[in-house]
Amino acid sequence: MMKMDRRLTRRSVLAGTGAAALTLASRPAIGLAIGPGGDAAPEFVEQLVARMNPEEKAGQLTLMASAIGGAAASALNPANRNNLDQQLAAARAGQITGNFNGAGSDWHRRLQQAAMQSRLKIPMVFAADVIHGFRTVFPVPLGEAASFEPALAERTARAAAAEAAAAGIAWTFAPMVDIARDARWGRGVEGAGEDVLVGRRFAAARVRGFQGAGLDRDDTVLACAKHFAAYGAGEAGLDYNSADISERTLRDVYFPPFRAAVDAGAGSVMASFNEISGIPATANRWLLTDVLRGEWGFSGLVVSDYTADEELVAHGFAADGREAARLAFLAGVDMSMQSGLYARYLPGLVAEGAVPMARLDEAVRRVLTMKVRLGLFAQPFGRLAPGREAQRVRSPANLALAREAGRRSIVMLKNEGGLLPLPRSGRRIALIGPFAAGLHDLIGPWNVYGDDQQAVDLATGLRRALADPALLNVTAGSDVEAPLPGGIAAAVEAARAADIVILAIGESARMSGEAQSRTEVTIPAPQQALAEAVAAVGKPVVVVLKNGRALALEGAVLDAPAILVSWFLGSETGPALADILLGAQGPSGRLPVSFPRESGQEPYHYDHKSTGRPDPPGPIQEYKAHYRTSPNEARFPFGHGLTYGVISYADLDLGPATLRPGGALAVAVRVTNSGSRAAEEVVQLYTHDRAASVTRPVRELKDFRKVALAPGESAIVRFTLRREDLLFVGQDGRLTVEPGLFDLWVGPSAAEGLAGSFALIA
Ligand code: BGC
Repeated sequence: MMKMDRRLTRRSVLAGTGAAALTLASRPAIGLAIGPGGDAAPEFVEQLVARMNPEEKAGQLTLMASAIGGAAASALNPANRNNLDQQLAAARAGQITGNFNGAGSDWHRRLQQAAMQSRLKIPMVFAADVIHGFRTVFPVPLGEAASFEPALAERTARAAAAEAAAAGIAWTFAPMVDIARDARWGRGVEGAGEDVLVGRRFAAARVRGFQGAGLDRDDTVLACAKHFAAYGAGEAGLDYNSADISERTLRDVYFPPFRAAVDAGAGSVMASFNEISGIPATANRWLLTDVLRGEWGFSGLVVSDYTADEELVAHGFAADGREAARLAFLAGVDMSMQSGLYARYLPGLVAEGAVPMARLDEAVRRVLTMKVRLGLFAQPFGRLAPGREAQRVRSPANLALAREAGRRSIVMLKNEGGLLPLPRSGRRIALIGPFAAGLHDLIGPWNVYGDDQQAVDLATGLRRALADPALLNVTAGSDVEAPLPGGIAAAVEAARAADIVILAIGESARMSGEAQSRTEVTIPAPQQALAEAVAAVGKPVVVVLKNGRALALEGAVLDAPAILVSWFLGSETGPALADILLGAQGPSGRLPVSFPRESGQEPYHYDHKSTGRPDPPGPIQEYKAHYRTSPNEARFPFGHGLTYGVISYADLDLGPATLRPGGALAVAVRVTNSGSRAAEEVVQLYTHDRAASVTRPVRELKDFRKVALAPGESAIVRFTLRREDLLFVGQDGRLTVEPGLFDLWVGPSAAEGLAGSFALIA
């Protein structure tokens, strides 16, 4: 808790502070040949490495949190060289490679000026956690994954990169591509959920978006796939906890999104905090070198997480900081974030022969190559044009994109009696709940540069969209985790005076994100009490959930006739929600995480194994894989989400239903919208390998597509399934697939669909 408080304060300081503009003229970079357009020119890098002393080399491998705020920042990061003057001095001495989460272009320009005064004039790289937007804040990544539109994530990453790059930032610590199967873990909010295919597609899309058309452009940032690996698999959903996990599960489940990010060209990878089966990821040579580089051919940079090298001591893996630095470095961590251990120990370790000079040079080469690729040598101030930051951030186009991404991230779980969309006029609406109004909890967790004060809340969004805003009555009713005196009474009164209630409840931004694991993934008790009291009034209730994870809904919340899952939607929260609530647009999101019946089911994921005693549908039978009091299925399954249309599936066609070597299985299905409103349906294809030499999940998502259907429209949706789509890690550790029968479903979620089967022929 101590650490979290410090970190939060650190981040708010960084986000809120500006630095004085400096007008020093930029100096040319080192006078060595460099490829046109800043191409990585190996001779240039080699010549530079040859001129560097060990201290300068260690400096290139040392990344620090930004020191903006001077004494305050150094107090916040007491162990480190984060004092403003010290950081400027380190830049001048060539002892620091860059910093992260700095306050903007003025400060970055000042540091770059200092780096240009260093002996070798190696430019600094400015990094940041641009997780879901910069100053324009997009939905949290989990929410955006609910769109099931990787192309949308590519667009928001592109926009975020352009804004961040205008502040001098050239490197983002994103995307987070950890598979998250345990809703208790707070950091699932930063990723794409529980599914491997969704994880892979969103990982690749976000990398493409961040890195854009070329890393040396002034609107792109280098991506960093994190946290490698199995960070989401910590025992009991506890952040930072150990993962005891088979190599097969690593390769089948946790690795693929990283592989997808690497294949999409991600320039860096961040090692994770956790240990994997006894070996911390940060010192795991098999992971960081054998798999990542040897098997996948990754040639970019590996950075540690925040002080993770130093934490090898707390893990009980290294005796002291010196050993921690050596172990992390030799395992494959090229750059150390925030501990300062590399600067402190690497020169000595090399002098004593404990670390080969060749390894030091290899890591330095990777950093310099990254800086060349980013165009930093060619133009150290290329991302620092005066005035560009103010002009580029929060443009009308980016805010419109935030609104579009927001509404596409919303998932409608229920809509009994067609309660939604609500009419724009003629009805008195009571908007009740801690998230009804107010400039808080809008941008969501893990955003360093966004500002709730600049975001639009639900009440404002609704007022703007309603024909008669005077018919909207807003009351909080409860605080997030504590009752409000008189709150419930006021809410009940408001509900009585209304025709319809919108109940805006759920989690605050502080309830998910780093170090925010929960033991119960429920609506906090005071809000549940509010929901019960309001429901008892008897008016139709639309629940609008704010959440950073899957929730186990119960009581009046679960029984409400309409439920929207809205995550944290960012800058345009209110307008995006109003678009859906009032029907200007229809909901098209799907759950990227299963919503369990009860917290105790976690970790829960739809692609679980069958067991020898699968839980049959219907009444509970003895000695089957269920709980004493409830079946082990999701309350709202992965992939679930309703539209304002009336959707049906028919005519599943698998042709000859055989998949031959080198061939493909053509799958077609008719999807019809017989409703009176337009709809966008996410059509999902799942398979199950009936018998294999390694047991396979009951269902696995193999493809998905969002299709737009006008009222009354019917469309044939086609998929092509290939042998590669069915591979798994066999008994010998190699990818394989065996001849035999497969089940196949095409439908609207992991629990439904038209069923067929096909044969894989050898
Ligand atoms: C987080 C990383 C983040 C880093 C830098 C760490 O605590 O785990 O995801 O990139 O801090 O802010």
